[in-house]
Amino acid sequence: MATAIRSAIDFYERHPISADIIVAKLKSARGHLDNVSPEDLFAHDQDHYGGLAVNDALAALAAIGPGSRVADFCAGLGGPARYLAHRYGADVTGIELTPARVKGAAALTRLVGLDDKVRVIEGNVMQVPLPDGSVDAVVSQEAFLHVPDKARTLAEAYRILKPGGRLAFTDWIAHRALSPADADLMWQGMAATNLCDLATYRALIENTGFTVTSVEDLTASWAEILKVRLAMYIKLRGETQAAGTASGHDAFYESYVRFVELVSDGALGGGRFGAVKKG
Ligand SMILES: C[S@@+](CC[C@H](N)C(=O)[O-])C[C@H]1O[C@@H](n2cnc3c(N)ncnc32)[C@H](O)[C@@H]1O
Repeated sequence: MATAIRSAIDFYERHPISADIIVAKLKSARGHLDNVSPEDLFAHDQDHYGGLAVNDALAALAAIGPGSRVADFCAGLGGPARYLAHRYGADVTGIELTPARVKGAAALTRLVGLDDKVRVIEGNVMQVPLPDGSVDAVVSQEAFLHVPDKARTLAEAYRILKPGGRLAFTDWIAHRALSPADADLMWQGMAATNLCDLATYRALIENTGFTVTSVEDLTASWAEILKVRLAMYIKLRGETQAAGTASGHDAFYESYVRFVELVSDGALGGGRFGAVKKG
């Protein structure tokens, strides 16, 4: 368990998308950093597959609207949290493991003046630092693949939700068991721990006490998105190396190439889940 946590932190401390890179891109696009709005950041600060549209899909599943209190599990640099606050009027608390991500999220949130509605706090989603029954919705995107105990994470979501509150998240799915070599590559290069198939995930959510409202297989759309994303990482690697900032490690690129193949072959893929805590 501790190894998986350490591995996720190592991975994200060396990740090629960082707050520094986002700010550098923004500055080069605008020429200055005066009066940056949340909208200016949205092209750069979303670390998941499918951009802003998938935030809208989660917001719909989780019934997020003005004044909703939302917890974003594994919030990263806070892109989706800022989006939900800005576009939907939600109050969002992100829970994020990697200290550099927490610091980066605070800097970006301050830059766009959303500090009153968004905070990303350091924490582990297997032990969430929020009170029982304190939020209307829990969301998460492409992050539970790093979390070794998914049942405990889902139980934490259930605990902090109010009765009638909603859970909506996306995650990697293993449609077929990976070969030991592929499983090791996903672990070494991308800190991916145990993965489940769609039916097992549904059962895990139901066993927590939730009523499942929706299960979607995103694999076909991910296969297309990932090809574009791989090209973006290869370009970014050149840019970050030229700028002398963190450029990700070799195992990341090697495993990413294989990950894209595995999704194209249908061995791995994505799932989107919606559920409600019984009232
Ligand atoms: C792919 S990023 C997703 C970021 C964000 N959800 C987004 O869409 O922009 C996954 C994030 O999960 C975080 N993470 C991994 N394991 C975690 C854990 N046990 N508790 C909290 N955060 C975790 C990582 O540090 C990383 O920032």
